[in-house]
Amino acid sequence: MDGNTDTSMRFPEPDVANILASRPLRDEDFKRISEMVYGLCRINLHDGKKALVQARLNKRLRQLGIDTYPEYLALVEGDQTGRELTYMIDTLTTNLTFFFREADHFDYLRDEVLKKIDPSKQSKLRIWSAGCSSGEEAYTMAMVAREAVSDLDRMDALILATDISTRVLAVAREGSYSEARFKDTPPELRNKYFEKDSRHPGFYRARPELAKLIRFRRLNLMEPWPMKQPFDVIFCRNVMIYFDKPTQNELVQRFFDALRPGGVFMVGHSESLTGIQHRFRYVRPTIYIKP
Ligand SMILES: C[S@@+](CC[C@H](N)C(=O)[O-])C[C@H]1O[C@@H](n2cnc3c(N)ncnc32)[C@H](O)[C@@H]1O
Repeated sequence: MDGNTDTSMRFPEPDVANILASRPLRDEDFKRISEMVYGLCRINLHDGKKALVQARLNKRLRQLGIDTYPEYLALVEGDQTGRELTYMIDTLTTNLTFFFREADHFDYLRDEVLKKIDPSKQSKLRIWSAGCSSGEEAYTMAMVAREAVSDLDRMDALILATDISTRVLAVAREGSYSEARFKDTPPELRNKYFEKDSRHPGFYRARPELAKLIRFRRLNLMEPWPMKQPFDVIFCRNVMIYFDKPTQNELVQRFFDALRPGGVFMVGHSESLTGIQHRFRYVRPTIYIKP
């Protein structure tokens, strides 16, 4: 996982040098943490991630007034509510995202899916942003849908946006972002669908017509999915990269089953389904269709 250095989410990174000095993370404690994280969400924290894990968790130990990792791990394991484990996962996930990230996916969504909707034949639209982080992907989908489908309000249209991290979901639900995050957003779209946030100078908040299209929910992709209806489109971008091959393989089959025939599946540009046995039809790199 890369460092999450985006201070515009209002979660500044701790002072790494200072913290590394204060609470040593022994190899056996790191191994226990890796096993816990892998067990819950299959994120693969290999040895190269040790310094990062230490930098991120030290802050939590300080907050709790705990001096050693064995003490902290006893707390995590002993917490029957699972709250501390959730907090730990929250701290260790990588949440980098921005509006119109990997913009060709949104071009495809607009031109090949949304603009081809015939409202006399299709009354429902279901899109899933799986691993939505702080919500920019889902808000981008909503902007593109608003622009592409003139009858959207007459359709039963919904964007489901899920993530394992409650921390990023809180940002997503708030829907308020610093100006810097709109660097790849056409200014006319930002002005049309976001308004100045009166509570946070320099921030823009999603207007209700955009926000009402999206439902943010916590979902660990490794657990059963409660959604019953098939999706027209699923984005799972820059998420599976943190999982090992067997986990990716299993997830791709589940995404296939969650789509309607003709539904579209997109992965991140640094990902592909190469080496995974799947039933999708390849359209172009990172874009697949369920036959
Ligand atoms: C790098 S972000 C990707 C955000 C967005 N999809 C994009 O491409 O810009 C990866 C997200 O995957 C989430 N994630 C990691 N493991 C997960 C799991 N097991 N279940 C659900 N979400 C998970 C993380 O919390 C993080 O927010």
